[in-house]
Amino acid sequence: MPETAEQTTDVLVVGAGAAGLYAALRAARDGAQVTLVSATPLAQTASYWAQGGVAAALALDDDPAAHLADTERAGRGLVRRSAAEALCREAPEAVRDLEALGVRFDADRHGRLVLGLEGGHTHRRVVHAGGSATGRRLVRQLSARLVAQPGVRVLENTRVTALWTSDGRCVGAITDGGRQLRARATILACGGSAALWSRTTNPPGSVGVGAQLAYAAGAELADLEFVQFHPTAVTGIPGREGFLVTEAIRGEGATLLNGAGERFVDELQPRDEVAAAVWRTMLDEGSDHVLLDMRQVDPDGFPNVVGALRESGLDPATTPIPVAPACHYTMGGVASDLHGATRVPGLFAIGETACTGLHGANRLASNSLAECVVFGGRAARAALDVDELPDRLDPAPTEATVTRPERATQKALWAHAGIERDPRGLAQLLGDPHPLARAIGAAALAREESRGAHHRVDFPQLDRALDGVHLVIADGEEPR
Ligand code: SIN
Repeated sequence: MPETAEQTTDVLVVGAGAAGLYAALRAARDGAQVTLVSATPLAQTASYWAQGGVAAALALDDDPAAHLADTERAGRGLVRRSAAEALCREAPEAVRDLEALGVRFDADRHGRLVLGLEGGHTHRRVVHAGGSATGRRLVRQLSARLVAQPGVRVLENTRVTALWTSDGRCVGAITDGGRQLRARATILACGGSAALWSRTTNPPGSVGVGAQLAYAAGAELADLEFVQFHPTAVTGIPGREGFLVTEAIRGEGATLLNGAGERFVDELQPRDEVAAAVWRTMLDEGSDHVLLDMRQVDPDGFPNVVGALRESGLDPATTPIPVAPACHYTMGGVASDLHGATRVPGLFAIGETACTGLHGANRLASNSLAECVVFGGRAARAALDVDELPDRLDPAPTEATVTRPERATQKALWAHAGIERDPRGLAQLLGDPHPLARAIGAAALAREESRGAHHRVDFPQLDRALDGVHLVIADGEEPR
C-alpha cells in the first residue's frame, strides 16, 4: 500500500499491546483495511511485560458465574455487572481463540491447560504461557500473525499526537511526523497511566496517552481515582526497581513476611487488601520493604522471574526477596460501553485505556489480559459498522494534545495519590502542570470514602450510598 497523507483506512488502531493487536487482527480477519500505529517497535508494550495470565472459567468445577462473583467481590461494590458478565462469559472463548491463533498456553503432560490460582479467585482459573512470560508470548504471537495478515499496515515508532474530529465525529488521527491518518473508526488501545507514578511496574510509555487523546476529542473519563498498586514489586536491587514478582507465585505458596519474619496478611486476598497490608507494615516498621519468601515454590515454574532475580544476584530459592508496592494498573480511563464505543462517534477505547466499569474499585488479578481479548474483539466488530467518512472533513489539528509528565509530577502522584491519600496532598495535585494528574487529584478528592484501591485517611470507611457511583470527568468540568 503506498503511504500518502490522504490515505483512508477502515479501522485505525492506536497501540500494539494485547488489546490493540487482537482488535486489529480481528478487524482484518473480518475483511477490514487496518492501520495499526505503535509508539514503540512491536512487542515493547505493557502487555509484553505482563507476567499474569488470562483469567477464564475453564476448570470443570468452575463457571462464569463464579468468575463474575469473584470479579464483583474484588471490585468492592463498583463493578458494572453487564461488563463483567460479558468478560466472564466470553473469556473461555477468548482463550480458545488465542490458542487457535497459535498462542501455546502451559499444559500438563496430558495436554490439559494448567490453571493457576491468584488473589481473590475462588478457583484455579488463570492460564499462563511460559510460566510468567504470558504477555511476551501473547504479544509476540499476535504481532507475528498481524504482520502476515493481508490488509494490515503497521507503523512502528510512530506516535499519535492528536485525534482528528470533524463535525463531532472522530475521523482519524495525526502522527508526530505530521501524517494525517483518516479512518472510519479509531480504536485507542494505548494502555493506562501507571507510569505517571514515580514507582511503577509499567514501561515508561504508560502515561495516559489514550486518556489524553480521547478527552481532548470530547470523550469522558471515568473512575480516575481508582489506581491499583501491586504489592510485590522488587525494591532496593539496583537495575530492578519496580520489577514485578507475579502474584501467581503467591498462588503457589510464596508468603509475605514482616521484619520479624512473621506473616501479616492472607497473601491470596484481593490485591487492594494485600497492597494496603504491605504498606501499613512498612509504615509501622519504618521500613522501605517487606520480604517475599518463595523458598517453597518450584523455581522452574517461573523461569523469567527467577532468572531475572538471579541475574541481579538474588537467589529466591534460598533468600526472601525485598518487595514493596508499586503503581501497576489504572481501573479508570476513557468511558466506554460494552463495545468499546465512547461518546464520540467513531472513537473506541479498549484494554487499560478504557473504563467499562468492569473492574470497579479494584481489578481482579489476570482479568486485564482477558479484557483485552474480549473487548478488543467486541470493539473490532463494532468498528466495522461505523459509517463511511463524508467527502469533506474539518481541517486536521496542528497542535499535539498529549503532555508528557515531568519527574516532579510522577513524584507528586506517588506522594499524594498513592495507597493512602489525604485531602491536603490531593489538593496539591490540583495545581500540577500535568492535566491528567490534575484530573486524578480532582477525582480522588471528590470521592469522600475509602473503597478498593482508593483509601482516604479522612474517610476510612466505605460509603454504601456510593455503591455503583462512578465519577465522570468531561468538558473541563469538575468530576460528577
Ligand atoms: C501479576 O502477575 O501479579 C500481575 C497480573 C495482573 O496484573 O493481573
